[in-house]
Amino acid sequence: MRLKDKVTVITGAAAGIGKAVAEIFVREGASVLVADRDGAAAEAVAAALAPSASAFAVDVSSSAAVAGMVEAARARYGRIDILVNNAGYGIPGTVVSTAEEDWDALMAVNLKGVYLCCRQVIPLMAAQGGGVIVNTASNVATVGILDRAAYVASKGGVAALTKAMALDHAGENIRVNCVAPGVTWSTYFDKMVASHPDPETFKARLKARSPLGRWAEPVEIANAILWLASDDASFATGSMLTVDGGMTAW
Ligand SMILES: NC(=O)c1ccc[n+]([C@@H]2O[C@H](COP(=O)([O-])OP(=O)(O)OC[C@H]3O[C@@H](n4cnc5c(N)ncnc54)[C@H](O)[C@@H]3O)[C@@H](O)[C@H]2O)c1
Repeated sequence: MRLKDKVTVITGAAAGIGKAVAEIFVREGASVLVADRDGAAAEAVAAALAPSASAFAVDVSSSAAVAGMVEAARARYGRIDILVNNAGYGIPGTVVSTAEEDWDALMAVNLKGVYLCCRQVIPLMAAQGGGVIVNTASNVATVGILDRAAYVASKGGVAALTKAMALDHAGENIRVNCVAPGVTWSTYFDKMVASHPDPETFKARLKARSPLGRWAEPVEIANAILWLASDDASFATGSMLTVDGGMTAW
């Protein structure tokens, strides 16, 4: 019970890594607001974790929607101890092939969404005497990959923003860290495999990206987020925890 009675808001919690975080946090004693743009899927995740979880439909790129989410958490639970900024997505493209509206839309979710959520939650945490924020960056924040220019830039931004916020809010007893996953099985890869002309070759290529020769299951990333969110990581702030099967060690 490493998160006993901790009130947690997790964005992008209806699927993949965020869903695994919600499940593991509830098991560790937390109350969880399952926040996601897909309200129906968020309801299903929360129902499976009742009575320790409830759902909230939110688009993290909307300032008004994020304000509503934070108000809902405050109204339901009275406080927010942990914020996990996990909502995000990737698109293919170089800077030349990425359309401006696609660039803006991705940045609005992956990077501005983190800013909007933190901007609303940090004053609450400061007034409570402290809190913990964990952002989901990516290992591509440090090395880059081909044909993902907007995504790589957004995650580099998340990694840098993590450090900036860690410095700005250390005096308020707020720790801010990020996790940097490598390839992790998710709805994103489900869809890519389904639409690929040669799914088996595609899967083999994904596995070959890491020295461990496989992709991560969402729970393996959730375990790292749990560590950063718990008191076990009480001296960690401004750090990036890479969990990528050794991909960036190559
Ligand atoms: N899967 C990977 O290989 C991998 C690797 C590194 C980093 N990440 C990051 O991990 C995070 C979670 O990804 P995942 O792989 O679990 O993906 P996923 O697609 O399985 O889940 C993402 C969830 O975020 C929600 N979401 C998307 N946009 C949103 C918005 N604007 N507001 C609120 N919710 C929104 C989706 O509805 C979905 O439920 C993302 O930030 C992603 O960039 C994933």
